[in-house]
Parts: sequence; C-alpha cells; structure tokens
Amino acid sequence: MKYRIASIKGDGIGPEIVTQAQKVLNSVGEKYGHEFEFVELLMGGCSIDVNGVPLTEETIETAKSCDAVLMGSIGGDTRTSPWYKLEPSKRPEAGLLGIRKALKLFANLRPAYLYPELKEACPLKEEVAAKGFDMMMMRELTGGLYFGERYTKEIDGVMTAVDTLTYNENEIRRIAIKAFDIAMKRRKKVTLVDKANVLDSSRLWRKVTEEVAADYPEVEFLVMLVDNCAMQLVKDPAQFDVVLTENMFGDILSDEASMITGSIGMLPSASLNETKFGLYEPSGGSAPDIAGKNIANPIATILSAAMMLRYSFDLDREADAIEEAVKKVLREGYRTIDIAKSGEPQVKCDEMGDLIAERI
Ligand code: IPM
Ligand code: MG
Repeated sequence: MKYRIASIKGDGIGPEIVTQAQKVLNSVGEKYGHEFEFVELLMGGCSIDVNGVPLTEETIETAKSCDAVLMGSIGGDTRTSPWYKLEPSKRPEAGLLGIRKALKLFANLRPAYLYPELKEACPLKEEVAAKGFDMMMMRELTGGLYFGERYTKEIDGVMTAVDTLTYNENEIRRIAIKAFDIAMKRRKKVTLVDKANVLDSSRLWRKVTEEVAADYPEVEFLVMLVDNCAMQLVKDPAQFDVVLTENMFGDILSDEASMITGSIGMLPSASLNETKFGLYEPSGGSAPDIAGKNIANPIATILSAAMMLRYSFDLDREADAIEEAVKKVLREGYRTIDIAKSGEPQVKCDEMGDLIAERI
C-alpha cells in the first residue's frame, strides 16, 4: 500500500528526530512492501520565519489531504527567541493548538511504559520501579483552558488576566467512550482524574464519565483528584491502566508520566479524531538547548510512527516490528544521553535511528 504522510518537522530537535522516524518507516516499507511518501510542511517557529504566521491554511489543507501527520516539535526558548516577542496568537504554540483544533484531534493518547531495560533510568525508588508500569494517559486535547476565552486587561485600575475553562457534555462523552474502548483492549481499568472537589467542569466530567462507565460493566471505573494523582504517579504508578483527564491536567501529568519511564524522550503520542486520521508526535518539546547537536533521543518519535501504523493504517504487524526493534536496541545496551547511566557509552540521535531501522 501507498501512504501519504504529512511531515511537520518543526523547530528545535524536531527535524533531527522526525528524520529518524522517517528512516525507520522507510525500513518498514522495504520489509513489508509499503510506500511512505512524506509531504514536508511548515508549522511553528519555522513557519513564522517563512510565512509570518505559525500555521497557514495551506498546511492545514495539505495535512487534511494526507493519510496521517507525523510531527516533531515546535517552539523555542521563550525568554530569548524573537518568536515570543509576537502577540500570543502568532507564537509557535498557537500553530500546534490551531492544527489540533482544525483537524478535530480531541483524543490524545500518551502511553507510558517502563521498559525493563530502563529500570535504572527510572528516577523512582527501586522497589517501585521493580514493579514496572504500563499506562495509557488519555488527555482531552481541543477543549478546556487552552481553548477558552482569554484576555488581559485593566479592571478598576488593576491589571487582570482571565482564562476560562469550559467543557460541554459532548466533548467529555466522546473521549470517555474512546477511553473505555481502549481500556477494553487493555487491563480494563479507567481512572478519571479531575478536581471535582473544586471545579464545576470536573463535576460534569464525573457525571458524564459515570454514565459512559455504566455501558462498560467489565471495566473498573475509578476517580482520583489531580493533586493526588500527581503523587500516586511517583508512589505507585503500577496501579494505573487508562488515565482519562482534561486538557491541562493531561498536559502536566503526561510529562510526569514520561519522566518516570526514564526520559521524556521515550514517550510517544497519538492525537485522534472520530475517524482513522491522526497526528503523531513525541510528547516532549523542541528542546532548543540541545537542538542541532545530534544528541536528542528519537525513540519517542519512532514509537509515535509505530502508533501511526497501528491506529491510522491498521498495520499492527508493522507497528509491532518497530516496537520490537526499539526493545532490541535497548536490550543490546544502546542509549542516547538522556537514558544512559553515567559512564555508559552513548549513541547519537542518527545512530539510534540507524540501529532501530536495521533491526526492523
Ligand atoms: C504538549 C505541549 C503543548 C501542549 C504546548 C507546546 C502547547 O506541552 O503537547 O504537551 O501544552 O499541549
Ligand atoms: Mg506538554
């Protein structure tokens, strides 16, 4: 089969890591008889430099015409980059939020799994790491605080900033259904994370998710307050299977979940809409401090490509091949700087890409 993939390399380490994922996909293509065509598109800071805006209509339309989107990362150093002198709606992050909204990518899946080989890179206590963990963070991606009305203005002589957190029941129900469907294929447990002791929006999340849960009697349904969840993630991450939560809580908790896997460079993500279409990107950022040094960990992006094969193209065997190849290089002891123990030999970003591509 032939697949057209929109490739948004973006800023910082984005180009380096996406190039490695393309390399691995090409290797999958050769082995399994598929052709992957990459359509390079600009978004984020690099789009600002060329087009004056972080996201153009053309990028949106071309992305929509493709079978899926593979993305790197966007953004720069918020204190020094000229992109952050622009008004907020013209900055790189606005491009990312804009494409998520334009493509209706409401469900963000971030699987956090502790590879046995990386137990030593896990910053948790040995007895906690020894139990391992395998969770699916499901973050709502097109609602809540990141998309609510916001403004900064003087009110009664006092500078005041306002952000609004809005969810309607339909936005909650569609991702809750996805979460329970995914739980059915996993360990059949959903933990809804909210702040229902304070927020109205969280109370609606609970009500609607409880209704959805009633349709899935086989799935154990639990609720947890977000502050407690932040604590439980480092205390006993093995308790989690599917973690369902709103946009900002998911943003924060998924970084935490990634770090306990050893490095944010290990955590892939898939952002899905109601169809098979999806955008696949590493959960981490553009890491401007290490950009261009060829030391970034490309594994999260490579695993994101595997998620693309699985969720958008139904190529489970090929996705397995990528995941197996990643396990193999880890088992053989290859490490990028972020997951290497002190004194352990390190491979560069492109070498890691080659090693995984060779093992497909
Ligand atoms: C992420 C990132 C983005 C987000 C930023 C860059 C806008 O942190 O994908 O988690 O908050 O969604
Ligand atoms: Mg984030």
